[in-house]
Amino acid sequence: MPDDTWFRAARFGMFVHWGHVSQQGLELSWPMAGGTPALPFSAPVPVADYQASAATFAPDPEAPKEWVRLAKAAGMRYAVFTTKHHDGYAMWPSRHSDFASPVDLVGAYVAACRENGLRVGLYHSLSDWHHPDYPALTDDDRPYAYSPRRSSPDEWARYLDYLFAQIEELLTDYGPIDVLWFDGGWERGAREWRSDDLRRRIAELAPDCLVNERLPGHGDFETPEQFVPASPPAAPWETCMTMNSTWGYCPADTGYKSSRDLVHTLCEVAGRGGNLLLNISPRGDGSLPPEQTERLADVSAWMDRNGASIVDTVPGLEPWQWYGPSTRSADGGTIYAHLLSKPFETVTVRGVPIRRVRSVRALASNRELTFRTRATVMDELFNWDPRGEVVVDVPADVVDEYATVFAIDVAPEGSTVEPPLALRGAP
Ligand code: GLC
Repeated sequence: MPDDTWFRAARFGMFVHWGHVSQQGLELSWPMAGGTPALPFSAPVPVADYQASAATFAPDPEAPKEWVRLAKAAGMRYAVFTTKHHDGYAMWPSRHSDFASPVDLVGAYVAACRENGLRVGLYHSLSDWHHPDYPALTDDDRPYAYSPRRSSPDEWARYLDYLFAQIEELLTDYGPIDVLWFDGGWERGAREWRSDDLRRRIAELAPDCLVNERLPGHGDFETPEQFVPASPPAAPWETCMTMNSTWGYCPADTGYKSSRDLVHTLCEVAGRGGNLLLNISPRGDGSLPPEQTERLADVSAWMDRNGASIVDTVPGLEPWQWYGPSTRSADGGTIYAHLLSKPFETVTVRGVPIRRVRSVRALASNRELTFRTRATVMDELFNWDPRGEVVVDVPADVVDEYATVFAIDVAPEGSTVEPPLALRGAP
């Protein structure tokens, strides 16, 4: 079993969808398959037109440095980069394909992650709509069938050799890889992919490499796409999400989520113990569109002040205890309550050991807030460690435009506390 401790605590990472077609401002891969209703900006493009931009792909090889710097600044702990999308174009000079970038963009990305202390994830599509043995998609294969034409047994064996060889290349040439993020597996079953052999090979080459559940029959974590599950999956999980509706750079898609929306999603995900893998879409030259840098800057500013309530936390209170997401520090001593709407003067936290509450702070400024506690009269009179409510005064100037975080510091069980009322003598 790979050690997934870092992944379980990471909470925030950066997905990067980039390919030669980013020069054309098109969604990755799907236009050459004729589009999918799941991606509103994936209208059909003839295969030859789609793939034509491979010939002119010459981005700035330094570009990954900037994205990874932004990821780090936003408090992200890891990144996942498209080494090969369904369109088959390798983002590194692969020894096993001539449909590949002559410049080592995977290498540049991995180096940037290492310099910034981010864990390294590689996205790799099992399906390959370019490889002749897969077989390659043509304009006649429309509408896209989700279960494509099959190749002959010989062709399929050759395809698997190529698939395994590229994955081995990625796992041996770039130092320890922390995540292999597979995709496209829906087109075949676990037996056809030889999933078990592939998983075994990965474990041999990179014992601590985590694999997502999109390798049929395997998976160290789950990847709900574009959605935060209402109740958390039992396995470690990660929601991957675009800032607009498109994975690749697509200037036509102007429907961006607001920075507030992204911060709220991050709070919801952290409150359920998952990770948010937030996507960026570099342009063909590697630069990021301003809509995306602006949102990253907003999220970073919020994380600067409030990141302690997200990264390295565990899920916090039950829904009845706090109307919104919440987390807890790993040592359990601090509850972080995320307030996603404007308060009416006070907020209430329920079911907490009220006599052990040492302080309530507005996390962003560390300012101590006044609070009152209450429990049933019998508990107030006789119970040394009653559970009850904490009612916090919320001055208007601590309310954050995205999400206000209250840090409630609770002394450990058995600490010295004020006695219950009956033991304090007459007033
Ligand atoms: C889907 C799409 C793909 C995208 C991925 C990200 O499976 O096929 O375009 O890269 O989701 O989660």
